Parts: sequence; structure tokens; C-alpha cells
Amino acid sequence: MFTDRVDQKDLPKQDPEYLDLLRRVLAIQADCEIGGPHLYVDAMLPSAPTRIDQLVVARTAAEEIDHFRKFARLAGDIGVDTTDLLSKPNQNRYLEAFRGTITTWEDFAVFGFLIDRVGKYQLEEFAGCSYAPLSRLLEHPSRILDEEAGHIDFGTTRTAEMAAGDEQARARVQKALDFWYTTGLDMFGRGESGRAERYRVWGLKRRTNAEARAQYLAEVNPLIESMGLQVPDPLVGRKYL
Ligand SMILES: [Fe+2]
Ligand SMILES: [Fe+2]
Repeated sequence: MFTDRVDQKDLPKQDPEYLDLLRRVLAIQADCEIGGPHLYVDAMLPSAPTRIDQLVVARTAAEEIDHFRKFARLAGDIGVDTTDLLSKPNQNRYLEAFRGTITTWEDFAVFGFLIDRVGKYQLEEFAGCSYAPLSRLLEHPSRILDEEAGHIDFGTTRTAEMAAGDEQARARVQKALDFWYTTGLDMFGRGESGRAERYRVWGLKRRTNAEARAQYLAEVNPLIESMGLQVPDPLVGRKYL
């Protein structure tokens, strides 16, 4: 396992594989950050049911765009141009989770509850990683992680509120949950991933995909149960096991 702490000025001395993986992970992270607002701003901002909800949609979008800006800057520093990500069509996003559109409040809430939470797991991998500029963004106190915690809290609270409604309300939340649960589990990637192993070898990730997914399941399943919702079968509809 590679244990050096690499700064930008040290990059020319690094193994080409290290540079490749670093470029790749920064470009993917930038794509995911900007992919969020592109899913929900069009429909959810003007249709938010209360002033507070509208403010939350706008603020969440602004925070994600700021996260994009921060990852895009790191990527730019190592020669990866991410400007095309700003206006890329949703269906071309790197991860399936960002390829559609969000048009219901149930989907917006469950997205925060489940998908921002997957995002937190990914970001945690970078805290203490071998590339110092990336690690510094996520080390405590990290504004990005604090903001993600806010998105997750809001999504979790709203999902629980809707789940506590009448039968029809609960059915709508359950439908959104079933969809995003599967999508979220796939975001961790294949349990047996050769590339994930290389990220670990180079100190750019710590957990295996399977470990991170297992920890996520242990966190979300009790929350879903406590809301009186049904935990979906974690294997149904999955693409990356
Ligand atoms: Fe973010
Ligand atoms: Fe977020």
C-alpha cells in the first residue's frame, strides 16, 4: 500500500497509473456534484410547496455547484478540463443516478436521504487520502462534508414526514425509496472491482466497494424501518453486484 502524501508539485514524479486514477476520480466526483442540481432545479425550484422548501432547493443546488467548483479546480490543476460538465445532458452523466430528472417532492427528499448519503461515503474515502490537496478538502472541519450532512438531514427528515402521512402518501414515498435504494447501492460499484483495488493500492480510497456498501446498508436499513417503510430487497434490479 502506497503511504506517501503527494502534493501537486510532486505529481510529475508519480507513477502514470497514480495520475490516471487521480484524474479519473476527480472528473467523476466533479460530474456527480454538478449532476445533482441538474436533476432537480428545473422542476423543483418553482414548485416547492413552502418558502423554506424553495430556499432549501436553491441552497442545496448552490452548495453542490460550489462542490463542483472545488473538484473542478483540483482537476484543472492536474490538467483535466471539466468545463463541458457544466452543460452536459443528464443522460450522459457518469453515474446512472444522475441520468434522469427529479420532478416530485418524494424523489427530491429520498434523493437527499439515500443518494447524498452515498455521496458522503465516497467523500469520506478522500479524507486522509494520498493526494494532499484532495484530502484537505475533506478533512475535518470540511465545509463540503458539513453541507452534505445538511442535505442528508433534510432528505431524511422530509422522507420520514411523508412516510408518516396517510396510506397514499406512504405508498408514494415507498415507490421513490424502492427506486433510489437500488440506484444508490449500484453507485458503490462492483464488489469485486479491479479498479477499486488499484485506488486502494495508491491510497486514493480506503474501503473496498463491498465494505462501503455493507456499512451503508447497516446505516440506512434501520432508518428505513424506523420510518415504517419497507426495506427493499438489496439484490433486486441491481446492475453492479
Ligand atoms: Fe456535494
Ligand atoms: Fe449533497
